[in-house]
Amino acid sequence: MQIHGGAHRGPVLVAANLFDQFGEYARKYLPRRNCAIISDSNVAPLFADGIEESLTAAGFRPILITIPPGEKSKTLKQAGAICDQMIAAGLDRHSFIIGLGGGMIGDISGFVAAIYHRGIPHVQIPTTLLAMVDSSIGGKTGVDTRAGKNLIGVFHQAALVIDDVDVLKTLPRREFNQGFAEIIKHAVIADAKMFRILQSWKAGGAPALQRLIKRNIEIKSRIVAKDERDRTGQRALLNFGHTVGHAIERAGNYRKFLHGEAVSLGIVAACAISVKTAGLRPDQRAAIVDLLGQFGLPTRLPSNFPRKKILDAVNFDKKFEGGKIRFVVTPRIGAAYVANTVTLDDICEAVEAL
Ligand SMILES: NC(=O)c1ccc[n+]([C@@H]2O[C@H](COP(=O)([O-])OP(=O)(O)OC[C@H]3O[C@@H](n4cnc5c(N)ncnc54)[C@H](O)[C@@H]3O)[C@@H](O)[C@H]2O)c1
Ligand SMILES: [Zn+2]
Repeated sequence: MQIHGGAHRGPVLVAANLFDQFGEYARKYLPRRNCAIISDSNVAPLFADGIEESLTAAGFRPILITIPPGEKSKTLKQAGAICDQMIAAGLDRHSFIIGLGGGMIGDISGFVAAIYHRGIPHVQIPTTLLAMVDSSIGGKTGVDTRAGKNLIGVFHQAALVIDDVDVLKTLPRREFNQGFAEIIKHAVIADAKMFRILQSWKAGGAPALQRLIKRNIEIKSRIVAKDERDRTGQRALLNFGHTVGHAIERAGNYRKFLHGEAVSLGIVAACAISVKTAGLRPDQRAAIVDLLGQFGLPTRLPSNFPRKKILDAVNFDKKFEGGKIRFVVTPRIGAAYVANTVTLDDICEAVEAL
């Protein structure tokens, strides 16, 4: 099954059991021989062998580059080390890169693909739910610095994305659940029908999960297509729940909460602000909070969590102009807009209530 989603340059394939045929797909879309598979040391032992075999059988010459797992690997230094290994292996501008892993690997492998020999094709094989529905779509690549996340990066659309839902079987439950924060975000900002589907969601069935992943890819790529370079404000809708979410991640030193968990709390805060400033009905707010809880996502901060640190982080992250901030609100489930009337006081109130 293929989706030619909006801004996506290359196709996205979503199915089960795709890896055996991976080499065939790659041959169809990438008329090149040499490639680097970039993965982390959790994911590589699980899937890299199968991918390498399939590529070799299809006439490719892959090399595997494995880096340590976790956000701490998403650095310029690590990107440089990957480039050095690729140069040493003789990969030139006619080669390509396969990122095999979650969003961390997607971001750094895409960044290396964007700069290696001034840009070579990037193939994404996302192995987390979050990477399938969010980070592998839209062409944002990059690395972190000590000052903050994703401060250095390049837009570089993937040439091909392969989502094999079978890989999610080995994903720890908490990592799986955090993907639903972005899925619920997509439903709230753009798709009331998907919201209702999620309300009666039953775990299990791969076909239902595939449909859900496809729908999310469509939503994200449709929004990205309107504003690929994040300039006109359309793409900013995807930041729903992220102003407070990012601040919570930062306040927890990126250890206390996973990204999706922090976004879940950020969505709860954004809903409170939407009730106050955008006319969101309180029963819809309650339905959104319930849905986040249904997927095991946090909707309340621990009582001893330092709220002040969150507000400091909001201030660090965002420019307030005349006491106001650009903030994504939802007037009703299935719609969102960027408001410029939200104040720091509104955010304080929502964070205090979390
Ligand atoms: N480019 C974008 O548009 C965009 C959007 C959202 C997030 N991101 C980035 O994505 C990253 C977060 O992505 P993530 O949540 O996927 O984290 P991740 O890539 O760090 O993966 C989470 C953990 O799961 C492990 N893992 C991955 N797949 C597995 C599998 N199938 N089985 C068992 N373990 C597996 C990884 O080794 C890691 O320990 C952040 O760096 C964030 O900035 C980018
Ligand atoms: Zn996010």
